[in-house]
Amino acid sequence: MSGFFLTLEGIDGAGKSSHLDAIETLFSAQGRRVTRTREPGGTSLAESLRSLILDEPMDALTESLLVFAARRDHIVRVIQPALARGDVVLCDRFTDATFAYQGAGRDFDAQVLSTLERWVQAQPDATNLLQPDLTLWFDLAPEAAAVRLAGARLPDKFESQPVDFFRRVAQGYAERAAGAARFVRIDASQNREEVWAQIEAALRERGPAAGATPR
Ligand code: TYD
Repeated sequence: MSGFFLTLEGIDGAGKSSHLDAIETLFSAQGRRVTRTREPGGTSLAESLRSLILDEPMDALTESLLVFAARRDHIVRVIQPALARGDVVLCDRFTDATFAYQGAGRDFDAQVLSTLERWVQAQPDATNLLQPDLTLWFDLAPEAAAVRLAGARLPDKFESQPVDFFRRVAQGYAERAAGAARFVRIDASQNREEVWAQIEAALRERGPAAGATPR
């Protein structure tokens, strides 16, 4: 069975994480083994870097280097072996978040990010870069996301940014989504059941059981 790499993206408060359990259950019911993971994180080194990235103030280049360092360890130790075993890799955020948060949100040089992406996501056989097979992009107006975030647990460095920051991040996601066919936009303004119906439809049409992109 071929591995399948699925990522979930969207601004903080868009609600993507609340569907992870159901997505995992759906794949398990299809007889697939699932490696569920997240970024920044997914290995002990990358989780240590995550704490620094989310809690310490730092300039945008430092932040980008740490995010990509965490990603490299995650790819080498977890993502590539899981795909090679034929797992579905279900990952809460990946490189699109770097282009959206560090690139658009913090106005950091997208060319530098593209260079880091090429280094970090190079494959052992030197063919294409490692990229998700499918990305569910939870699109929600930053104002609505802010309402959902208010009253949630203590905000981290990014969650406590003003709504203007999230307007730029949302724009960054929209630009990234316009540039690659692997994105499916999920209208995250709908209620939970309606959002789940969109996710199910996207996975039926473009997920591993639909025979998308053999690896
Ligand atoms: P998030 O995935 O929302 O986890 P939680 O649900 O536990 O808050 O938090 C990760 C944060 O890290 C989020 O605010 C986006 C940010 N981030 C970046 O800035 N760059 C990246 O490359 C990634 C993967 C995440």
